[in-house]
Amino acid sequence: MNFTFQQYQESADYLRGRIGDFKPQVAMVLGSGLGFLGDVVENAVAVPYGEIPHFKASTAPGHKGRLVFGTLEGRKVAVMQGRMHHYEGYSYEEVSYAVRVLRLLGCESLVVTNAAGCVNTNWKAGDLMLITDQIKIFMESPLRGENLPEFGVRFPDASHLYTPALRQVARDCAKELGIDLKEGVYMYFPGPQYETPAEVRFARMAGADAVGMSTAPEVITAGHCGMNVLGFTLLSNMAAGILDQPLSEEEVLEAAEACKDKFSRLVLACLKKM
Ligand code: HPA
Repeated sequence: MNFTFQQYQESADYLRGRIGDFKPQVAMVLGSGLGFLGDVVENAVAVPYGEIPHFKASTAPGHKGRLVFGTLEGRKVAVMQGRMHHYEGYSYEEVSYAVRVLRLLGCESLVVTNAAGCVNTNWKAGDLMLITDQIKIFMESPLRGENLPEFGVRFPDASHLYTPALRQVARDCAKELGIDLKEGVYMYFPGPQYETPAEVRFARMAGADAVGMSTAPEVITAGHCGMNVLGFTLLSNMAAGILDQPLSEEEVLEAAEACKDKFSRLVLACLKKM
């Protein structure tokens, strides 16, 4: 099933009714560990996904499932506290539905964060990675189906999905804060099972530095509708097969908790300069 432009407009109209003439500039999709930033938004108006026409619920652990509008670091933001994942049973179009709605509300940029497995053996769990590019070649695109020209062209260029100027902002901020920021390629896997060691070797051969189950669909959609994108990954664990230990959700959530101070300082510093 494809959403119509009218459905996106209905969602946007409903939200305008909740936020009045507040016009968000930056959309933020907060993954594991950074969801708390939604709680520190000033003059916040929080709207649970369930109240918004055509929105889906977010069922992943630690994902609150609401949109928070307000200001952060002086920027007008729309924060997605919790995202949808394909493994929850949603289509890629549903996973990235909110991005288009936030574009209609005026957002020109998207900041995405996630936790992912570290494929690059020169790095370690707990490192932060600026996403320079992504690989999502399995399963369909969120743009599959009739193109909605109100958002973008049928065959969008994807040469610079992660905006070079914003990547430079992130480098500068990390330097100022004394945070060691790696840079690399995020490879999308649909999950919910973690990758096999063979899949991780494949990802490394393909040029990936991190493997994860989110972000790539939303970023394709954001690129299609002309948004600037800044993406960060918390490398919460070494990917499968690198260490002789099984992967677990607890390990991911613990790493996210342990790094949330460093991670949030970096993201907020970037926001200030966007
Ligand atoms: N693989 C995929 N997704 C993840 C991982 C991983 O190792 N860690 C956190 N999210």
